[in-house]
Amino acid sequence: MKTNEILGIDIGASGIKGAVVNTITGELCSERLRLPTPSGGKPKAVAKVFDELVKQIGWKKTIGCGFPAIIKNGVAHSASNIDKAWIGEDAAALFSRTTGCETFVVNDADAAGLAEVKLGAAKQCDGVVMLITIGSGLGSATFINGKLVPNTELGHLRFKKGIAEAYASDSTRKREALSWDTWGKRFNEYLLHLDRLFSPDLYVLGGGGSKKFEKFSHQLTTPNKVVPALFQNNAGIIGAAMHGLSKKKLLSVK
Ligand code: BGC
Repeated sequence: MKTNEILGIDIGASGIKGAVVNTITGELCSERLRLPTPSGGKPKAVAKVFDELVKQIGWKKTIGCGFPAIIKNGVAHSASNIDKAWIGEDAAALFSRTTGCETFVVNDADAAGLAEVKLGAAKQCDGVVMLITIGSGLGSATFINGKLVPNTELGHLRFKKGIAEAYASDSTRKREALSWDTWGKRFNEYLLHLDRLFSPDLYVLGGGGSKKFEKFSHQLTTPNKVVPALFQNNAGIIGAAMHGLSKKKLLSVK
């Protein structure tokens, strides 16, 4: 393995996906593996599947991981689409212990945003860039002139008598059997709400929903630019790897 290659793992509510990533180009340099997230999703059970994935890939070095919660110094501080037992859990320490590989953890949407801002659809884009991941929840990554403001959690904004992700996530579209047009109108309302608050220069749409951009893009009326993620659903894996490598480098110069 070359020094710019590292294993990136993206933990989601339904699947744990991973691949070795070339962090200079964003290319995947191993097969992309996906194992189902264990039902219930408690810390020990998730760590077991995480370890299984690492073993199947045959990886023995540093790992970068995206996780669907507020993450500060490797510790989870929220749990909306995962088991509440994660709140207060040091996810980085748990995965490092279970795999024997030093693991660095970052919010999953922040990870996807890192990949898109450094190498993807928002490369060299100044101003305010917002990546919104459309999946089991709505994740957000906010960048100002290329610098991440971590854990913005804009899927949890109060919206339509609840929170935004309950109204406009992909799991809501599936659960309520909404057509792409109906769901697209809902998602548009959400983007217009973000416009009122932040007037971003660019929206990048990631997560599973980014693969269906052409099915709902005609419903989007925001005056701001909206593009699908270049790396689509792999952005989370790629950004997790980039996070892992940059943390490793930071620690090795200290
Ligand atoms: C979580 C976020 C996460 C998003 C996408 C939300 O429910 O609160 O931390 O980024 O889902 O997975």
